[in-house]
Amino acid sequence: MSAGIRRIDVGGAQPYRIAIGPGLLHDSASLAEMLRGRHALVVSDANVAPLHADTVVGTLRAARPEARIDTCVFPAGEASKTLANFGVAIDALAALGATRDACVYALGGGMVGDLAGFAAACWMRGIDCVQLPTSLLAMVDSSVGGKTAVDLPQGKNLVGAFHPPRAVFADTTTLRTLPERELRAGLAEVVKYGAIVDAGFLDWLDANADALLAQDTGALAEAIARSCAHKAAIVERDPFEHGERALLNFGHTFGHAIEAEAGYGGLNHGEAVAVGMVLATRLSAALGMADADEAMRLQVLLARFGLPVALPDGLDPEALLARMRLDKKAQAGGLRFVLWSGAGRAQVVPDVPESAVLAVLREA
Ligand code: GLY
Repeated sequence: MSAGIRRIDVGGAQPYRIAIGPGLLHDSASLAEMLRGRHALVVSDANVAPLHADTVVGTLRAARPEARIDTCVFPAGEASKTLANFGVAIDALAALGATRDACVYALGGGMVGDLAGFAAACWMRGIDCVQLPTSLLAMVDSSVGGKTAVDLPQGKNLVGAFHPPRAVFADTTTLRTLPERELRAGLAEVVKYGAIVDAGFLDWLDANADALLAQDTGALAEAIARSCAHKAAIVERDPFEHGERALLNFGHTFGHAIEAEAGYGGLNHGEAVAVGMVLATRLSAALGMADADEAMRLQVLLARFGLPVALPDGLDPEALLARMRLDKKAQAGGLRFVLWSGAGRAQVVPDVPESAVLAVLREA
């Protein structure tokens, strides 16, 4: 692997590496090293495949000319993350004749990573999956940690599995073609790490906001590496979300409900999480945990990144609450939220009164 590539190791029962830097999709040795057998399925979407799928197939072929490599391309967008498309990916693995040493290469954003990862988790009870994230959001969050899933009409990610990737290669040159809205959405998840565990990172984001928005490659690589280092440390300690990993869901209980209620295709995931983080800080302030001025500072940073910080018009608070009751983070006893007590300090709070949640939603 060449100079200029940052490497982060994720330990635990199934260790793997995250590589971050320019040109990784052309790194034949690294990509092909992950292919233990002779079958590779490159899963992508209709926006990313025309830009990068031939590169990945060519890179694999250069090192493994004998391998059988197919591609499977889905319409872009969260609406593709369905059980029906999971079936399409499984059919593609069957058509490929994929054996247990086959590898799925998930080339795209969060939708592709989750869907392809879930297919890899289920085919023959689990084959390798290499994540090749091409969006900022996927680079800093969804490609790392092994959560895979599809959505149901009732809610996001309701059917899925923990299936750690065999490796993650984040080729930062792919960000050059990322639509600006998607870049901003990824920054919401970057801000999340600062908010929950690293106050100094929030200061760094404040100081480097203009460089990040201008897509300065050094600033972006630093933001990705710092985010991945936080995520790697957390998932290494708590791979199955029995405790600390739940902190990564800061803003997501509100966010998933907003995303589902507004209809996938309204606010994207990062935008919904941005609104969700603001609502979570307000709930925290209402419950006496957080200082309203500090909560405002987080809101100002999110707004500086061009992210929404208010509920979209027309969403019914009662309907959002009903969605939250079905959220995976809810437990039999009641609503569970990641709440905030200031920069870098978050905690999971069970049994949050529904009346307090409704009050925050009604005010928003
Ligand atoms: N995106 C939250 C997690 O991976 O746990």
